[in-house]
Amino acid sequence: MADTPRDQWKSKLGFILAASGSAIGLGNIVFFSANAYKYGAGAFYVPYLIALFLLGIPVMIMELGIGHRAQRAYPEAMYRIGGIKGEWIGWFGLLNASVITMYYITILGWVLGMWIGAFGSLWEPQAVPAFDLPSGTLSNSMSYFFDMISKFETVAYVVIVWILNAAIVWSGTKSIERAVKVFVPLMWIFMIVLIFRGITLPDGPQGIMLLFTPDFEVMKDFEVWQGAFSQIFFTLSLGFGIMATYASYLPKKSDQSSNALTISFMNCAFEYIAGLAIFAILFAFAIVPKASTLSMTFFVLPEGIGSFPVGVQLFGIMFFTLLLTAGLTSSVSLVEALAAGVIDKFNLPRKTVVLIVSAIGVIGSVMFALPMVIDPGLAGNGTLGLTLLDFFDHWAFSYGLLICGLLECLLVGWVLGPEKLRESINPHAKIKVGPIFDWMIKVVIPAVILVILGFSIKNEMSGDGLYGGTTETGTMQNLHVLVLAGWLVFTILGAMALTAAGGFRRRSDAGGDSDV
Ligand code: PHE
Repeated sequence: MADTPRDQWKSKLGFILAASGSAIGLGNIVFFSANAYKYGAGAFYVPYLIALFLLGIPVMIMELGIGHRAQRAYPEAMYRIGGIKGEWIGWFGLLNASVITMYYITILGWVLGMWIGAFGSLWEPQAVPAFDLPSGTLSNSMSYFFDMISKFETVAYVVIVWILNAAIVWSGTKSIERAVKVFVPLMWIFMIVLIFRGITLPDGPQGIMLLFTPDFEVMKDFEVWQGAFSQIFFTLSLGFGIMATYASYLPKKSDQSSNALTISFMNCAFEYIAGLAIFAILFAFAIVPKASTLSMTFFVLPEGIGSFPVGVQLFGIMFFTLLLTAGLTSSVSLVEALAAGVIDKFNLPRKTVVLIVSAIGVIGSVMFALPMVIDPGLAGNGTLGLTLLDFFDHWAFSYGLLICGLLECLLVGWVLGPEKLRESINPHAKIKVGPIFDWMIKVVIPAVILVILGFSIKNEMSGDGLYGGTTETGTMQNLHVLVLAGWLVFTILGAMALTAAGGFRRRSDAGGDSDV
């Protein structure tokens, strides 16, 4: 049925490294800690663990099962479950995820810039000519960051990260496997070294104490639950179509329930230990981090590292290498998911598709980087000029991922029947997926997601949601409406267009290989 022999992982280890490399990303290193700080430190672990067991693991089993069962990329695997409606959901998920990937790669471009700085100038005071700021006005890392993002070099960094992504997916599983075998062990080692550095700092243990002194009051706040539930999708790379695609390259006999558990636990273990390092580094210097995840990555943590008694350069380089490797193994997974979708649908050569996807991706990522280069004054309005990024993030992260997860559950739950998925998973599984899975997918998870989405929409209406309660006026409001419209058109209409294009349906209708 497949027109070309399908790629397969060379080893189970290769798959586990690739899938856990996708899950472990910037989300685990900085976003989780920033959220934990914002939502009552250690108390955040409780809703987070509940989210892991309630949503994360069942949806992980489901996504792996979908790809493994069909042995095709995400949209086609979904087509085999629910016809063209299923395929539309598949493309919607991939397109929404590609919005996230575009700004994720912009952030990685900035990380690359910081990495270069970590060899020297990041640690010295400097002027920011674009803002008319003399040397010494801002902290070292802040001035370096603002200077960097207001220069055209930033665009080059973004392009370099895209080239790296394209190179890693160039030969499919073969080149991905080669990259993750180096990057994933490296990031575990760097993380462990940073933890040791963190806890042996003079006041490091106090930071960790804070992590273990949970403020349970915050759990009454709905926002905390919303934060935990959307974070679990993001961190496990669920609702992106990634896990289905990666599992489609596994042999038929592989064990999806143990794969799901291994990937989920590896991801969360990394996140928890990252929390130790980050809280230690932050509090050793009595730096009170602001809640924003980006300022945490680019100012607060580098400042902490900058005040280490010894080894500033070494640990700085290590920290940014860690972010780069973790981020790259995540972004490649989505580039691969998208490329595989197009390859399987249109039967095009892989290299052509990788080039097209990357060319479009570069335009998107540069669009997120450019406003700061063109008008550094944007930073003065308190949004760091990152408004565009924040707005797209708001819709794609807090809504898109959950909507994709919801539709996926409804499709598997009510069209395919979760027992069918279990029947394809269980014969090869050491730990059998029990009937409770059926009810989770059919009722519990959709209900939880609907409640979260319902509350988010209610917040949006009351003016609390859009921008953390900031009252938006004039241009800002217009921009936000424009971003929302852009996101809706791109995901909803884009998915319709891709579904409408015949592709594999034309081929399989002729050959009659579909099981719909
Ligand atoms: N799981 C990744 C993280 O935690 C998120 C991600 C996945 C981003 C895939 C881009 C593409 O950082």
